[in-house]
Amino acid sequence: MSASPSAIQSILTENRVFPPSQEMVKAARVSGMEGYHALCAEADKDFEGFWARLAREHLVWSKPFTRTLDSSEAPFYKWFDDGELNASANCLDRHMGTPVEHKTAIIFEADDGSVTKVTYRELLDRVSQFANALKAHGIQKGDRVLVYMPMTIEGVVAMQACARLGVTHSVVFGGFSAKSLQERIVDAGAVAVITANYQMRGGKEMALKAIVDDAIAMGGCETIRNVFVYERTSSACPMTAGRDKTFAQAMAGQSTDCPPVPVNAEHPLYILYTSGSTGKPKGVQHSTGGYLLQSKMTMLWSFDIQPDDVFWCTADIGWVTGHTYVAYGPLAAGATEIVFEGIPTYPDAGRFWQMIERHKCTVFYTAPTAIRSLIKAAESNEAAHPKQSDLSSLRILGSVGEPINPEAWMWYYRNVGNEHCPIIDTYWQTETGSHMINPLPGATPLVPGSCALPLPGIYPAIVDETGNEMPDGTGGMLVYKKPWPSMIRTIWGDPERFKKTYFPEEVKGYYLAGDGAVRAKDNGYIRVTGRIDDVLNVSGHRMGTMEIESALVAKTDLVAEAAVVGRPDDLTGEAICAFVVLKRPVPVGDEAKQIAKELRDWVAKEIGPIAKPKDIRFGENLPKTRSGKIMRRLLRTLAKGEKITQDTSTLENPAILDQLSQNN
Ligand code: WTA
Repeated sequence: MSASPSAIQSILTENRVFPPSQEMVKAARVSGMEGYHALCAEADKDFEGFWARLAREHLVWSKPFTRTLDSSEAPFYKWFDDGELNASANCLDRHMGTPVEHKTAIIFEADDGSVTKVTYRELLDRVSQFANALKAHGIQKGDRVLVYMPMTIEGVVAMQACARLGVTHSVVFGGFSAKSLQERIVDAGAVAVITANYQMRGGKEMALKAIVDDAIAMGGCETIRNVFVYERTSSACPMTAGRDKTFAQAMAGQSTDCPPVPVNAEHPLYILYTSGSTGKPKGVQHSTGGYLLQSKMTMLWSFDIQPDDVFWCTADIGWVTGHTYVAYGPLAAGATEIVFEGIPTYPDAGRFWQMIERHKCTVFYTAPTAIRSLIKAAESNEAAHPKQSDLSSLRILGSVGEPINPEAWMWYYRNVGNEHCPIIDTYWQTETGSHMINPLPGATPLVPGSCALPLPGIYPAIVDETGNEMPDGTGGMLVYKKPWPSMIRTIWGDPERFKKTYFPEEVKGYYLAGDGAVRAKDNGYIRVTGRIDDVLNVSGHRMGTMEIESALVAKTDLVAEAAVVGRPDDLTGEAICAFVVLKRPVPVGDEAKQIAKELRDWVAKEIGPIAKPKDIRFGENLPKTRSGKIMRRLLRTLAKGEKITQDTSTLENPAILDQLSQNN
């Protein structure tokens, strides 16, 4: 990622350290650095024994495993692979007959502020009933089902019901377009879609089912036999007879008893599509046993979840954070969690703070983008300031998705955490399945803007292009030297791409994260500096530059060529900037604005509104070397609005640089 020089400076000079309070050290599950080092030492001494112990202690197995790690087909690692279990049984059934049975599992707050609660018992009944409905439609172990749902209890029910039957779900974020949905249905070969008629966001009713219809109508979706529609609102939506059923219709007469189907630990729990550096999003395939183990362990380690905690992860179930820290981790840990349907700025920008007060939230986990936008809102509107709410219930704060700048960190620490809540800056990825590098609340001294240290049993290194380790204090590529239980298993349907992308030979068979990082000389703390590939991070959402370029050039009546780069943005971290060559003369003034709008709408249709370029520049050509290669370095400089100081002598057509600096 291209951080601005001033941002880099402010991180480099960061020397504030915030040790955990004595109280937190005493009460925490991992107590003090001694506690942390003891776990690390256990993993160092007997790597497999460490993970095997945790898997036996923390998961319920219907058939115990005897083999911990099978590396015989590396990098296709297998964990606990002669064992059998069920993910939903580990999240729900296991709590029956314990004090958790009648505890609140989910506090759901709808967009309009209405609140619904379900206990673990009630959630198990609902999941079982819906699983029976799926079963009655012939959906079974090994099938793939696409989930296109709003943030609701039913969204979690849909995922858990799939898991209960050994059905592999693939959740698609509600902000993705019909085209994106269709591509994922085809790639996964899904037999059904679980969706809602509408979703509510910021007081507006937005169609979901109609988008599913559009996706299926695009063709190639013949595998789809059923569409299940949760009636989120009372508005009607088109239904296709024979194929579509409402939740109520599907569940009518179904029993609330549905035995969980035991699956092999390696059975794919889900596929989640994410952007890479080439055009097509890749289906990241996760396992059942290893994934669930680390989902739970990180709830216990990173968030120190205790019986009375009220946990709130604000991520949507359409992203990996919503999988691990909404749909699975909190339930596996027996926690009470908040699920929120709406947006942080509706009805006003104090919504998060008011909800923390209302539900006495104790552990709050959100993204730097949300924090930055709420800082801005609080600065311009007193009523939206966190000090208007009683936040005294909070004990731990979390951050995820992108680097958090020290300024935002300090604001979060002071104004939300009242200077007593540790900020757990969690670095991980869709592919890692769960947290990899972050401080622990009762152990690690915090440094703003640093993810601190790897979790026990995780072995990162910082290497050069040939896989050799860099000295501390020198930046390089982040890799992991050993596998871990919740790691990606393969790219769905494309094992070759999996190998090439994540375990390239050049880096000695280590897992390549795609991020740059530097390890501090004095304390070994790791600071992640951002992507080193063509992946952008916009508001904590991953976007591939090639993906957006392909979308732009697919507008064949208008676009001849396009190049997309990121530029730093105060609010969204990075912003998308597109350089476009049209099949007509370079437009100016209103015409340029009109065409820019047309292109943004097009990208929203092709991928989804999150992929809309913020800046669009038109030119007769792109800056290319004489051999025809686009000079992206120059485009990045132009995108930042900076003067070109680089050598442009190899450039075929230097005059177009001026033209491309006009923003529309
Ligand atoms: C970035 C989200 C710095 C990183 C869980 C990574 C971060 C990508 C952090 C994965 C963090 C995530 N500090 N950078 N705490 N967390 N990233 O797959 O570039 O949506 O590779 O997973 O986000 O994004 P993904």
